[in-house]
Amino acid sequence: MTDPIDLAALPQDFAWGTATSAYQIEGAVAEDGRSPSIWDTFSHTPGKIDNDDHGDVACDHYHRWREDIALMKRLGTNAYRLSLAWPRILPGGDGAVNAKGLDFYDQLIDGLLEAGITPSVTVYHWDLPQALQDRGGWPERDTAHHLAAYASVVAERLGDRVSHWATLNEPLCSAWIGHLEGRMAPGLTDLDAAVRASYHLLLGHGLATQAIRAAAPGAQVGIVNNLSTVEAASDRPEDIAAARRMDGHTNRWWLDPVHGRGFPSDMLDVYGIELPEQAGDLATMAEPLDWLGLNYYFPAVVTDDPTGPAPYARQVQRLDVPRTGMDWEIDAGGIEELLLRLTHDYGARKLYVTENGSAYPDVVRRDGTIDDPERADYLIGHLAACVSAARKGAPLAGYFAWSLLDNFEWAYGYDKRFGLVHVDYATQNRTVKGSGHRYADVIRAHRSQARKAA
Ligand code: IFM
Repeated sequence: MTDPIDLAALPQDFAWGTATSAYQIEGAVAEDGRSPSIWDTFSHTPGKIDNDDHGDVACDHYHRWREDIALMKRLGTNAYRLSLAWPRILPGGDGAVNAKGLDFYDQLIDGLLEAGITPSVTVYHWDLPQALQDRGGWPERDTAHHLAAYASVVAERLGDRVSHWATLNEPLCSAWIGHLEGRMAPGLTDLDAAVRASYHLLLGHGLATQAIRAAAPGAQVGIVNNLSTVEAASDRPEDIAAARRMDGHTNRWWLDPVHGRGFPSDMLDVYGIELPEQAGDLATMAEPLDWLGLNYYFPAVVTDDPTGPAPYARQVQRLDVPRTGMDWEIDAGGIEELLLRLTHDYGARKLYVTENGSAYPDVVRRDGTIDDPERADYLIGHLAACVSAARKGAPLAGYFAWSLLDNFEWAYGYDKRFGLVHVDYATQNRTVKGSGHRYADVIRAHRSQARKAA
């Protein structure tokens, strides 16, 4: 099948990948020395997760990783973005290394390489060891140093085979959703704790970048942010100001410090919290990066909300706009706009779409197949927008579809399915969905074009 996307604009060595994260797929939470993370605690707190779901078994990837690599091969992908579980590797958060935890990732990396799939490793995707939360978690400065020590351990062990590293996944969620809105672990609603957490996450990012480079010279290090385009819901000056605040909260707070611009001063005024700054911190946060990762899902349309939590702006639901099963607005143009913003406003030299995808309720047909045209359309629409950004000059080196598998979607539990591959949680049977076959077609088309051009 030919796709209406002009794939020639993409580099021949484009990374075609899928992405997952440890807690969302691995299961085996009490096996081989793994300790609880804040997500084990949070998901086992009644009422926090839809249906009281948790990640105890998830997709059982800890035992089925070989089968999952075979699925990646079936899709034709040449890259895979995974995260490491900190509590598997350092069960106490710091101190003694758990050899069995490291061994798991060691064999997984070897398996990927044998299959011709390049691993892209995220050091931290939200699963802080509970032991560190008990010592204060991200609001405490020590946690940033513990992240760097953990990054050093994993880069030393895996850095001979892994060259592509991300320090953090979506620190916005850890700080704002975990410490301010309370919808994610550790479930706090405290602006002071949230701002301190955001600061220490970015400090930890800089320290971990240095640690990875020291342990694995030649490593390509980046950070993964979830960004949104932001639009005011109306022409009212209050809504326009709210949109500016939301842009600061969602985008600039996370991008400016790592680009040597410090924290946006307008947002310091909005939060009104003194930063726990020490000499040299801003330079550490701005350690030069090899690449930037963009996770994109939806645009934000916002209105002024003076009585709500910071940034005192709230997303509104527009009528007559297509949405995914998450109730998130669909706007493929947003991914292009953000890739170009990173290129032009932040001088990005290399960009990856590290996550993009959609959840819809799937129906398994009597013959066992799953036709999911909405997910496939979302995928193709966003890929076309990525190609358009590349044609306009964005240095886009790869795209990772979220997600390889249906998985534990945090506070939404297992009801929201993002996978290109369906998981029957009762049997752990995996089935490639129509969208997965469509993705494979695109990859095949690009590969054959690249071969002809070579
Ligand atoms: O499932 C999450 C992932 O862990 C981080 N980015 C967004 C995805 C979909 O909500």
